[in-house]
Amino acid sequence: MKLFDVYPLFNIEIVEGKGCKVWDKEGTEYLDLYGGHAVISVGHSHPVYVKAITEQVKKLGFYSNSVINSLQQVLADKLGKASGYDDYSLFLINSGAEANENALKLASFHNGKKRVIAFEHAFHGRTSAAVRVTDNPKIIAPVNEDLAVTYLPLNNADLVEKELQKGDVSSVIIEGIQGVGGIQLPSDTFMQNLRELCTQYDVCLILDEIQSGYGRSGKFFAHQYAGIKPDLITVAKGIGNGFPVAGLLISPMFNPVYGMLGTTFGGNHLACAAAIAVLDIFEEEKLIENTAEVGAYLMKELALLPGIKEIRGRGLMIGLEFEESIREVRSKLLFEEKVFTGVAGTNTIRLLPPLCLSIEEAVDFISRFKKVLNV
Ligand SMILES: Cc1ncc(COP(=O)(O)O)c(C=O)c1O
Repeated sequence: MKLFDVYPLFNIEIVEGKGCKVWDKEGTEYLDLYGGHAVISVGHSHPVYVKAITEQVKKLGFYSNSVINSLQQVLADKLGKASGYDDYSLFLINSGAEANENALKLASFHNGKKRVIAFEHAFHGRTSAAVRVTDNPKIIAPVNEDLAVTYLPLNNADLVEKELQKGDVSSVIIEGIQGVGGIQLPSDTFMQNLRELCTQYDVCLILDEIQSGYGRSGKFFAHQYAGIKPDLITVAKGIGNGFPVAGLLISPMFNPVYGMLGTTFGGNHLACAAAIAVLDIFEEEKLIENTAEVGAYLMKELALLPGIKEIRGRGLMIGLEFEESIREVRSKLLFEEKVFTGVAGTNTIRLLPPLCLSIEEAVDFISRFKKVLNV
């Protein structure tokens, strides 16, 4: 059986990782400024994480959601404390798209309305409602088209209000910082306006923190820079440091009903062991503080380099926009300087390293980057 060929691949096979380094099967070492697409939070193969998963699988890997799994409550307690949302409830699933799917559904169950407001260049995943609220017609199949969605530009509260006034909007979904869209930041004022408007018009505010959350912005959630509290928050990627886990944080205004949401794999024992270890490491190693510090250092140093049109981001979620295509720069970074980075569109490099990136590794990256830029 061959693999369904949907990914354009680099001819590199990564077989090992440690902290912010990865190695291919020939033993070549790479500096990881990509984190496997913003997934690696505490670093590759962290010993505490490895031990937690290993010990859990020796005892029990999985049992169904029809019996008590106290690890879920341990995780919820730690997540509530770490994020400042201890009055919210947690629903556990396996991927970011599923988290958004459930958020959109819960909002609609709650207020009985149907239409969703999403933003231009947004990415929310590839399942039915999640892909429909993603602003990319190429990945929306005809079966996804029936959900009514209106895409609006970021940072224009008047346009949002005009839509909410029509009375049929169930939810507004927005990324804490747009990732796939090229590290675009909603302004703090816009976030505050959204919060007020959603409350005023009985619309649920959904914050997709799948890429920007879990410390990546230098705060637990990127929306916390604006001092707002959404009704629903979705998390994935960094929550499991590579183990597939995702979560939906649900405000106390929602009432759970048996059977309303459900999943086979969500919240399984192994996933919880991984996610608990991640939060323990966050606390022990002060990773959010590290993210803010190393991120600020990188932004400052990158700003000194010539040829970059714009630098955007917060913490260790940084976009470097160039006037021209970054294809060659990225390829040189990878094949000559052995640095993994991400992209957005054709002209933006995305830096999404593990949150344990040290200042020394940041310095190392800048010097490799300078070689590629010839400066
Ligand atoms: C902001 C955002 N939302 C949702 C998703 C979808 O997550 P997943 O691929 O785990 O379904 C992604 C993935 O890149 C993302 O960046």
